[in-house]
Amino acid sequence: MKVYLDNTASTPLLPEVIDAMKNAMENLYANPSSVHYHGRMSKVVIENARKTIASNLNCVPSEIIFTSGGTEANNMAIYGCIYDLGVQNVITSKIEHHAILHTLEHFEQKGLIKIHFVELNEKGQINLDSLEKHLIDFPNALVTLMYANNEISNRLPIRKVSKLCRKYDALFHSDMVQSIGHYHIDLQNIDIDFASSSGHKFHAPKGIGFIYINSKKVKIDALIHGGGQERNMRGGTENIYGIAGLAKAFEIAHEKMDEDMTYIADLKQYMIQQIIENFDNVSFIGESANTGLYTVLSVNFPKAMFDDMLLMNLDIEGVSASSGSACTSGALKGSHVIKELKIPAENQVIRFSFSKLNTKSDINFCINVLKKLQKNKG
Ligand SMILES: Cc1ncc(COP(=O)(O)O)c(C=O)c1O
Repeated sequence: MKVYLDNTASTPLLPEVIDAMKNAMENLYANPSSVHYHGRMSKVVIENARKTIASNLNCVPSEIIFTSGGTEANNMAIYGCIYDLGVQNVITSKIEHHAILHTLEHFEQKGLIKIHFVELNEKGQINLDSLEKHLIDFPNALVTLMYANNEISNRLPIRKVSKLCRKYDALFHSDMVQSIGHYHIDLQNIDIDFASSSGHKFHAPKGIGFIYINSKKVKIDALIHGGGQERNMRGGTENIYGIAGLAKAFEIAHEKMDEDMTYIADLKQYMIQQIIENFDNVSFIGESANTGLYTVLSVNFPKAMFDDMLLMNLDIEGVSASSGSACTSGALKGSHVIKELKIPAENQVIRFSFSKLNTKSDINFCINVLKKLQKNKG
């Protein structure tokens, strides 16, 4: 048996999404920029996808620009703030995704910006006083803070952050890659300039996502120049198959959101309970055992409980999980997020992440594997 508990890294495609993409592959072969009948058929699918997304997020369709995913959306927001909006100071946290941190480091190395990190407590939660202090010290900054953390599940008090940003005239971007498609988000209720999303985190394909740009507040230029696609905001023939899949996954996510949320949260609760019953001295990282993302459980296993390389041994036994974000675990390098939380280096932190395709029997299988791998069972 093989069990997939790494849904924060990527989710499987839903059958309905595969059907929508297959239909697009078979029928939507024309270039959406062509003005003839076939071209218009392709264009309609893109514009309908934009409308579906905009109506669920409560924004206008022209505020949604399709990108190749979360990384490009994050780059686009940061690039636009620096080159078009004159940002010289960026306030962020040390536990953002590398799609933010490495992009900011790149621009800092070029001498274009200075990065300022907000203080975090031992759970990785943002200290709002520290944010306010930075906002006072660095007027007209960009604040970029993720809505939900992909490794430790923490959720940002986004409306409080947004109010602080407005009080000090800062721009506000949020990496919502782990939240869009998982929560009801009303963009009229959060005063924000930019938000990033990625399809493969909610059962759409990899390589497609979007950025929201608040047209009432900001105007930036394209990151990728070329043809006039995406209202001149992103050159290049559109990824129509990806967009068709994204729209279908988005639609399903919103139709079934409350039901799926309850189901997944119950699975996670079951896993927590099983871990507590079967293993001593285990703790849960960040907000993952309570107020955090309902899809993520980050577990801190004490040093003596397992042999080294727990993640690899789980894999050998049929459980796919992660020791941090996907890219760092692939390189078998410690996670920068876990490092910030000052967890003893010899402890083994494993992130289990769930989707609606998981079942209780997946959890039972994983718990049995963990029991088998446990040393000194007494
Ligand atoms: C919080 C967060 N931001 C950004 C990304 C990057 O998104 P994409 O893979 O679509 O480029 C990820 C994916 O791991 C993520 O979890």
